[in-house]
Amino acid sequence: MKKTIEVPQEELQANLDVAARLHAELQGRGLRYYIESYGCQMNDHDAEKLSGMLQACGYLPASSKEEADLLIFNTCCVREHAEKRVFGNIGALKKRKDAEPGLIIGVCGCMMQQREVAARLYKRFPFVDLVFGTHELHHFPQLLSRALEGERVISVRESDGEIAEGLPVVRNGSFSTFVTIMYGCDNFCTYCIVPYVRGRERSRAPENILAEVRRVAEQGFREVTLLGQNVNSYAYADADVDFPELLRRTNAVDGVERIRFMTSHPKDLSPRLIEAMATLPKVCNHIHLPVQSGSNRILAAMNRRYTREKYLDLVQQIRGAVKDVEITTDIIVGFPGETEEDFLDTLSLVREAGFAAAYTFMYSPRPGTRAAAMENQIAEEVKKQRLLRLNAASTEQLQKGNSKYIGQCGTVLVEGCDQRAGEVTAFGKLPNFKMVYFPGGAELIGTMREVRITGTMNNSLIGDLIK
Ligand code: SAH
Ligand code: SF4
Ligand code: F3S
Repeated sequence: MKKTIEVPQEELQANLDVAARLHAELQGRGLRYYIESYGCQMNDHDAEKLSGMLQACGYLPASSKEEADLLIFNTCCVREHAEKRVFGNIGALKKRKDAEPGLIIGVCGCMMQQREVAARLYKRFPFVDLVFGTHELHHFPQLLSRALEGERVISVRESDGEIAEGLPVVRNGSFSTFVTIMYGCDNFCTYCIVPYVRGRERSRAPENILAEVRRVAEQGFREVTLLGQNVNSYAYADADVDFPELLRRTNAVDGVERIRFMTSHPKDLSPRLIEAMATLPKVCNHIHLPVQSGSNRILAAMNRRYTREKYLDLVQQIRGAVKDVEITTDIIVGFPGETEEDFLDTLSLVREAGFAAAYTFMYSPRPGTRAAAMENQIAEEVKKQRLLRLNAASTEQLQKGNSKYIGQCGTVLVEGCDQRAGEVTAFGKLPNFKMVYFPGGAELIGTMREVRITGTMNNSLIGDLIK
């Protein structure tokens, strides 16, 4: 088992000391920051750490981009269009920077961990002050301090993967939050850039994870989502703790009422995990289990290391063991060499598996990945048509699945409310991730409520408040 390397305490302390110095210098100036974060929950959580460090440096949160003295773009590069959007949004800031030379612009995140892309952005936009990769997050106070002194900073470091424990965090929301259990990925699915920009897989020490869970529970968070690119391969060298055991220990923390986790790779999903889901009361009956394709030929070319049959068997085992479970998935269409027949296999898998939601994507070639160099790239138009057909099949399937809810009762954790057709409507999720809309106002946010399901609407359910 691999050893986890933690960033030395002195190195972290040196950065926190810089933050404290900046705090003393900047305090009282009312400087504000705004972070625009793209991509997945990993990035969202990194943005929460950036917020923590920025506040330690004496900055206050801005309520809009316009109000900010410091703007940070936390980028994603999992698909090409994510990249294009960032270049577009940063380019549009030139005028503002001309008018407000004191404005600091920073760009970080996965896209900046690609050396050539970081260099290209740095060159193309001379008004960008600060560029740094994912492995530099914990050095942010030092990098910011240099930028504030007028230096243009670019810092992209290769790393075998360390873990920086103890960074300050300012969490978004007040009742549901993320706790990272592992970083990076070693799976090298042939289409995916994540292993290149997030580094090698490494797990946090269980005592650090549990201390964080206890801390957020004390702060009043009722729902915790344990995060990792492949939580099923969680393993910590110095303790005999695997993912199901970690769930068991998290389940024992007072104050936490719901435990979610993502993402699960089907190749590593064990009977012990299914048992943990079935028996631990706080662990929600939902699993996000990306299948990516229904064709064995394509799954092999993707290096997913399971077959369609193995996947469907897992689905059956989960359904057999976990009451009212819902399964969600990710699917890619148009992977190099995907024939109509392969695609039909994906459609038939969607019909067999009965997903509650499928997040569907057109394959996007990513530089440096094996699939980008494969022959038989699929034409954009074919990908588009397949995506439309897949979405139609998946919607049909999930609507069929929705009808079983009518008349049932369940508990939602209320997430928010909005105005719908003149009525104030609250919304929140059942433990199994189904979203329910029901009449109710802002006073319900953050509470657990009983609802009865009366109807369905696209992906979601409609209900009445019982209590
Ligand atoms: N670690 C997670 C997912 C990470 S990326 C997992 O293994 O499932 C989230 C999703 O983006 C993936 O599940 C995949 O469906 C999609 N994705 C990743 N790379 C892609 C690419 N090059 N083109 C299109 N979709 C991609
Ligand atoms: Fe990417 Fe595969 Fe790792 Fe998920 S498991 S992050 S899809 S390489
Ligand atoms: Fe996530 Fe995008 Fe990075 S999906 S890990 S933010 S490339």
